[in-house]
Amino acid sequence: MNLIFLGPPGCGKGTQAEILERNHGLVQLSTGAMLREATATGSEFGLKVKAIMDAGQLVPDDVMLKIIDERLDQPDTAKGFILDGFPRTLVQAEGLDEMLARKQRALGAVVAFDVDESALVERISGRFTCAKCGAGYHDKFRQPSKEGVCDACGSTEFTRRSDDRPENVKARLDVYAKQTAPLLPYYTKKGIIHHVDGMADVDTVTRSVRAILNGSADS
Ligand code: AP5
Repeated sequence: MNLIFLGPPGCGKGTQAEILERNHGLVQLSTGAMLREATATGSEFGLKVKAIMDAGQLVPDDVMLKIIDERLDQPDTAKGFILDGFPRTLVQAEGLDEMLARKQRALGAVVAFDVDESALVERISGRFTCAKCGAGYHDKFRQPSKEGVCDACGSTEFTRRSDDRPENVKARLDVYAKQTAPLLPYYTKKGIIHHVDGMADVDTVTRSVRAILNGSADS
């Protein structure tokens, strides 16, 4: 099944996409991760992207559409994919519709993560990842079983995202409200949206997402 995960920064899209990739073989296509890879190269393009991300703004639609168009041509996406962080504007959503029609592929569902804005800053500011394998953790909600050691790969180095500083989070939330939230009615109209309670604990959210995959969820 091909899915879109839709919701504000910190709602749990990446956490759940990572779990589905591990347990259900779907490929996680995180546009944020793809852009962070580009910024790490230090190229001119990467530096431009970093400035946009650090300001909490969106990378231009044409750039994002090209990235996803090329990524969907990779054979690993044939078993099903999760778009995590894309689309983020109506232009991207319409571009995705055109792209999927051209590639003769279809969306199975859009999963919308419903969360209280007050929880998001705490979630984002406590987040850190393994510098080696990228496994995600949180100071309060998801610590490694052995302090300072990654559960997945044993590395002892961790990083925090530069756009996760509280002053940038506010800008990201404003951008979400203005530019991305209009996608909720867009997909509701298409009849493919399912809402999950993103305030529940991680395992409960995973069960709700699985119910959507199995076709047993209420919309
Ligand atoms: P991106 O990387 O996509 O960031 P985001 O959408 O802001 O989302 P996050 O990764 O912050 O949150 P998440 O929902 O994945 O939450 P997570 O699971 O990590 O984008 C970054 C930037 O790239 C954008 O600002 C933009 O500049 C650019 N960009 C990306 N895509 C673009 C596009 N399509 N167009 C234009 N620009 C684009 O969870 C957060 C924390 O909470 C974690 O620590 C986790 O452990 C914890 N947590 C998760 N679930 C729960 C739970 N149920 N209970 C308690 N804690 C939880």
